[in-house]
Amino acid sequence: MSIAAREVRVELGERSYSILIGDGLLLQTGELAKQVHIPTGSAVLLVTDDHVAAAGHLERTRASLERAGYRVTDMVIRAGESSKNYSEAAKVFDRAFQAGLDRQSVIFALGGGVVGDLAGFVAATYMRGIRFIQLPTTVLAHDSSVGGKVAVNHPQGKNMIGAFHQPKLVVYDTSSLQTLPLREVRSGMAEVIKHGIIWDVEFFSWFEFHLDDLLALKTDVIGEMLARSCEIKAAVVAKDETEQNLRAILNFGHTLGHAIEALSQYGTYTHGEAVSIGMVYAAELSFALGRCDRITVERIRSLLMRTGLPITIPDNLDAKDLLESMKHDKKAAGGKLAFVLTSGIGHVETVSDVTEKWIVTKLAELRGSQE
Ligand SMILES: NC(=O)c1ccc[n+]([C@@H]2O[C@H](COP(=O)([O-])OP(=O)(O)OC[C@H]3O[C@@H](n4cnc5c(N)ncnc54)[C@H](O)[C@@H]3O)[C@@H](O)[C@H]2O)c1
Ligand SMILES: [Zn+2]
Repeated sequence: MSIAAREVRVELGERSYSILIGDGLLLQTGELAKQVHIPTGSAVLLVTDDHVAAAGHLERTRASLERAGYRVTDMVIRAGESSKNYSEAAKVFDRAFQAGLDRQSVIFALGGGVVGDLAGFVAATYMRGIRFIQLPTTVLAHDSSVGGKVAVNHPQGKNMIGAFHQPKLVVYDTSSLQTLPLREVRSGMAEVIKHGIIWDVEFFSWFEFHLDDLLALKTDVIGEMLARSCEIKAAVVAKDETEQNLRAILNFGHTLGHAIEALSQYGTYTHGEAVSIGMVYAAELSFALGRCDRITVERIRSLLMRTGLPITIPDNLDAKDLLESMKHDKKAAGGKLAFVLTSGIGHVETVSDVTEKWIVTKLAELRGSQE
């Protein structure tokens, strides 16, 4: 029997599942799969990317699955967002057929959000949907391991082709983060900080206090951070699985964040970096509209800065272009621009009557001069 240091339950009725978090858990992937009744002897597909494979995580995972009696076929995609498209998905489908996967089979997604979204998308649609198990290897992927959103990108926009498909299990080996580039560590933390802002002031304060140990990836605090952050997302998702209402609060910082990502041609900024700028902007907008005090804005800005994340809008991005891009975002339902604003750390609400004048004024103010 394996012992995970922490377990977070995502409660979704018959689609409920566990997120197991602990140091060295990838070495137990096979045993853990048996515990969720994946029959030994069956063919499984293990999808990863070339960075994760080069860091040694593929071999460790594969060995564990084989030891437990699974017949493993692997598939290594090229790392990066550009692999999250349907021609790559088609190759994964081909590989799944070659490997002999049937309706009872399982796909393992070993990697960050890109591998999780792509392999999850294939699992959601292969033979009308088969089980998948997530093995996240980035900090950001704690976010994608809760909620069941899987997708590929389309030239019309990110994540435009997708589904809701919950994993059967998530096995989160914190030791895999040791090989993750520091920039990716910091970026993933933007979503963790977001979870504090939208839901839990105590967690935000805890993060402020432990920041140095978190950035040093100390096992225990990192495990605690991922568990609490997953719990918060799970609490939001449990109340609103298919994003009708409450789940929109998860978009705190994302209205501007998505526009920055789109206008800077996906690549200049990581998702977390763009969201970091977006969160400072949302906080400033909240203050300007009299919804929160100055201390709230400064705590948010200061924590993001100490985490090593950007907090100002790059000079080459025009305020009007950003406004247009925000209007086109799929979240601007019916063309109406909505912002998630804070009334103090731990509390947010969706606001759809912010005037364009305020939006543009605040965009202009959040320039690099303050950095
Ligand atoms: N489904 C959801 O709910 C959800 C939520 C948030 C983000 N996402 C998606 O997640 C994606 C971003 O995820 P990400 O930030 O994890 O990106 P990613 O998967 O591209 O990983 C970031 C980089 O780190 C490398 N890497 C991953 N693990 C590593 C390790 N342990 N050691 C060394 N290198 C490693 C990857 O190869 C890649 O180069 C986006 O496509 C986004 O749309 C989905
Ligand atoms: Zn995000």
